[in-house]
Amino acid sequence: MVSNLTRRYRRGGKTINAVDDVSFTIEPGETLALAGPSGSGKSTIARLVLRLIEPDAGGIEFEGNDFLALGSAALRAQRARLQMVFQDPLAAFNPRATVARVLDDPLRIHGIASRAERPRRVAALLERVGLSADLAPRAIHEISGGQRQRVAIARAIATKPSLIVLDEAVSALDVSVRGQILELLLDLQRQERIAYLFISHDLGVVRAVAHRVILLDAGRIAESGDARDVIDAPQSAIGKALVAAAPRLNRTRSLGRP
Ligand SMILES: Nc1ncnc2c1ncn2[C@@H]1O[C@H](COP(=O)(O)OP(=O)(O)O)[C@@H](O)[C@H]1O
Ligand SMILES: [Mg+2]
Repeated sequence: MVSNLTRRYRRGGKTINAVDDVSFTIEPGETLALAGPSGSGKSTIARLVLRLIEPDAGGIEFEGNDFLALGSAALRAQRARLQMVFQDPLAAFNPRATVARVLDDPLRIHGIASRAERPRRVAALLERVGLSADLAPRAIHEISGGQRQRVAIARAIATKPSLIVLDEAVSALDVSVRGQILELLLDLQRQERIAYLFISHDLGVVRAVAHRVILLDAGRIAESGDARDVIDAPQSAIGKALVAAAPRLNRTRSLGRP
């Protein structure tokens, strides 16, 4: 739960409110999308929620804890429950690291499995995201973009999170791979009741996967509600502009929702 979150940046002597008084909750097993034009504050909210940066004002409650008040040890423990997938796994991981290493790290760091047990857990994680265990010794830079994003998802679920923040996680993938990754995310959500904070500038993707959506405009919430209701009939000026600019919004197709 995020309340009245504000984050400012100073640029060229001027202060800009990158995130301005934003509040929302995410229920277990729910996908909440953040959409909005470039520069509207989506990634800043992601980084605030992950506590990669600190807010100037506002609060974050996660699993009943005051997330901003956690000391470093408690924060490290809580981070296991709060994972992330970014747009570019090549930037997020050491590209020379092996797939096995990328998946072994969270198991080791969070003490989830013994050294002897970990190779088996790594193989199981790979299978869980639709990859062959044969991929384990390969380097991150050697595998395809779709495979890399599956590895990023496997790493995110390794610590059994209740929330995963996905910042443009499928935006760099071509359409067919994107569909497969979205199906995987929905499958994981159904089975493990993981909540997603799903950030995307693509309203078609948002409409297909999100339960609710928040439309951001210059750091403020312009509009929010049921994802399909908002995208099919936006009320705000920014919502109308985004929908008008969206290429071929498919109003019938829906991946995860009846
Ligand atoms: N580290 C930073 N320093 C200065 N300004 C920043 C920084 N990060 C983000 N901003 C500014 O904050 C606003 C929101 O950025 P961002 O959250 O990245 O938007 P989005 O992800 O929606 O494209 C933009 O005006 C951006 O230029
Ligand atoms: Mg961004």
